[in-house]
Amino acid sequence: TRPVPRITVIGTGYLGATHAICMAVLGFDVLGVDVDREKVDRLNSGEVPFFEPGLPELLTKALESGRLRFTTSFAEAGAFGDVHFICVGTPQMKDSHAADLTYVDRAVGDLAQHLHRRALVVGKSTVPVGTAARLTELVRRIAPAGEEVELAWNPEFLREGYAVDDTLRPDRLVFGTDSAWAEEQLRTVFASVIAQGSPVVVTDMTTAELVKVAANSFLATKISYINAMAEICEATGADVTGLAEALGYDDRIGGRFLKPGLGFGGGCLPKDIRAFAHRAEELGVGQAVAFLREVDGINKRRRARTVDLVRELAGGELAGARVTALGAAFKPDSDDIRDAPALDVARTLHEAGADVTVVDPVATGNARRAYPELAYSTDAIAAAAGADVVVLLTEWSQFREIDPEAMGAVVAGRRIVDGRHALDPAQWRAAGWEYRALGRP
Ligand code: UDX
Repeated sequence: TRPVPRITVIGTGYLGATHAICMAVLGFDVLGVDVDREKVDRLNSGEVPFFEPGLPELLTKALESGRLRFTTSFAEAGAFGDVHFICVGTPQMKDSHAADLTYVDRAVGDLAQHLHRRALVVGKSTVPVGTAARLTELVRRIAPAGEEVELAWNPEFLREGYAVDDTLRPDRLVFGTDSAWAEEQLRTVFASVIAQGSPVVVTDMTTAELVKVAANSFLATKISYINAMAEICEATGADVTGLAEALGYDDRIGGRFLKPGLGFGGGCLPKDIRAFAHRAEELGVGQAVAFLREVDGINKRRRARTVDLVRELAGGELAGARVTALGAAFKPDSDDIRDAPALDVARTLHEAGADVTVVDPVATGNARRAYPELAYSTDAIAAAAGADVVVLLTEWSQFREIDPEAMGAVVAGRRIVDGRHALDPAQWRAAGWEYRALGRP
């Protein structure tokens, strides 16, 4: 039997924490590394520092097995691991659309100086194409073991809210490497994932880096495509939900990621398409992905249009209107508010003078820290007391199940904007609500 590699995971955010916990559950000895001492302490004491269904139970199980712990020490990581996964973030730069590679460079550099024996460093972070080649040089230059340390790229496609499933049963695994040894290490680490049927694409590092941004760009484009159709629907009186359903039955198109509404947000799609367009321009092929600017523009217009609908329902004037905003997270089953369309709309309404209360089952803590000027609640009916307009911005199941009569009894006026096509218009209209949705008559 092959020796079992010991694994480190550098960076314990949504991606890294999930990866570390899942690898330990699969039976590997795993060390998670983060520069944030508080995060490390919380994870070691069994607390997942963010909301992700199913993950807390797996963390408990992994800690109890004795196969998982977390540290802030890169020296410890270098001594411990055979395979090191780089899972730190690549946020958008403050003053440009480029990806900020500070964290990746620092993580790889801090780790490499402690690599005294043969090891594999595996990049998982989403990076501009060409980064892996640069990191290969960096590792070789810094690592005491020199050429014995190899770099490979293994992009991660996990969705928040489904992170555990996407990690244990991914649609595909992509291994970017031209080294037989590195490929064998990766096949060992992912043996049980491969055994249950996930296909493996082995390719070069550059292609592997590109797969991730190409996939996210395609998904963003699909969402903006149907949202562009929603704009046409609005101009013609057509119904985008019927249109999307009919398009989706064509197998070549497919119904997934064809849900019209307020559009995409989160820590990945928006910044990834911007960083990709930026990188393509640097490479002199900006024209090839110039359409991504349109994709971004269509997406932003959905937020503005949602604000317009609320204004229309408020009688043409937002100042002084009482608005209940259902949702803060960028999507349901997540407490992530990075580039959340919901909070963007809520803030715009607030800035226009509306009196806004934001309701979310799990994201109000994060939202309040970021935007203390808004009012928050976790109870939709209580928050809607006296509201002039209710606007649904994140399609939590709790909101889908709201009884129009119960909410109607507390509001000042029965007026609702459904930003996510999450409600049944017939049911709400039957209860006397004025119901409006993007792209529907
Ligand atoms: C995404 C990719 O799906 C994942 O593969 C990648 O690894 C990271 O980025 P995530 O950001 O967790 O994952 O969210 P996802 O479920 O993809 O949703 C992204 C956004 O698109 C959300 O704001 C969602 O509300 C929106 N969306 C999604 C739509 O507006 N319509 C759709 O049909 C699908």
